[in-house]
Amino acid sequence: MSSTHRIAPSILSADFTRLGEEVRNVIAAGADWIHFDVMDNHYVPNLTFGPMICSALKPHAVTAAGAPVPVDVHLMVQPVDALAQAFAQAGADYISFHPDATAHVHRSVQAIKAAGCKAGLVFNPAASLDVLDWMIDDIDLVLIMSVNPGFGGQGFIESALRKIEDARRRIDACGKDIRLEVDGGIKADNIARVAAAGADTFVAGSAIFGKPDYKGVIEAMRSALRG
Ligand code: DX5
Ligand code: ZN
Repeated sequence: MSSTHRIAPSILSADFTRLGEEVRNVIAAGADWIHFDVMDNHYVPNLTFGPMICSALKPHAVTAAGAPVPVDVHLMVQPVDALAQAFAQAGADYISFHPDATAHVHRSVQAIKAAGCKAGLVFNPAASLDVLDWMIDDIDLVLIMSVNPGFGGQGFIESALRKIEDARRRIDACGKDIRLEVDGGIKADNIARVAAAGADTFVAGSAIFGKPDYKGVIEAMRSALRG
């Protein structure tokens, strides 16, 4: 397992009237990645933001010292390919999609990688990991949903822990450097259990942006991860 945990605040729960400032503030508070939830009111019953907003925020995704902070785009859209290319152009570092949202998963992954991005596959709470039998050598990230996609602020679905364990076994057997990310209902008081199941990258929206002290929440998460 990767020993380096990453915390990826989801700007879905940020103040949309001042997104650039929110991105800068959460990076100053210790965010490792910026998680960008793209919803299309078709694959999921909600509508968020597109590549123009990603492009506008990209210059803000840097540390105070000027180091780039990865932009982690989670596509909850159907179809996938055209928007994935638009997000690659908009500066995304990781682009992940739900396998059930595209007709040709392998082709979609190859297109994301050909556009210069890292590619991830996302698994809903009731989705099987079987596609990894055929795709794991081609991807850089596995994202396990611990809520149904579409909204922030939902409760963690416990069966995600078994799926994380299953994904961890597959990643370790493959031997490639693949991040194992979990998304939904993550808080300082459950993050250690999620890490123990094998996750190394943690999306958190409402837990961070719902509190005034982003740094306090991120430090509480890191402290829980240190055990
Ligand atoms: C749900 C999104 C999540 C969401 C997580 O569709 O993919 O990233 O923002 O939000 P919280 O941390 O509030 O559960
Ligand atoms: Zn997400």
